Amino acid sequence: MAKHIVCRFDELDVGKITPAKIGRTPIIVSKLPSGQVRAMGGRCPHQGAGLEHGCISGRTESEAPNELAFCDYGETLRCPWHGFEFSLIDGRSVVPGTGHLPMKLRLFDVEVEGDDVVVTI
Ligand code: FES
Repeated sequence: MAKHIVCRFDELDVGKITPAKIGRTPIIVSKLPSGQVRAMGGRCPHQGAGLEHGCISGRTESEAPNELAFCDYGETLRCPWHGFEFSLIDGRSVVPGTGHLPMKLRLFDVEVEGDDVVVTI
């Protein structure tokens, strides 16, 4: 395991995907609404699309027909290819009915050291 500076903290924003590379390994970095930073593998666990082309937003929930609630803004990553959505909190798929599939974002340990975002891989 080694630490790698991947970007500056002031490059990050909620809802923004910041791409980086560690060696030849693509990763993406984003800031959550809580201020925490997440660093993830840059390839979708479904079929390998480049997640730097995805988008971060929220998701909708429904408790009853014709009622939708928008939630988890800044905590949901949508793949640009088939549109699967993943939680930036734990990396799991948030698409209903996909919990049985072995699809999960690869999350890396990340720290902010001074102005730098440092990923351990
Ligand atoms: S490659 Fe990402 S959802 Fe299919």
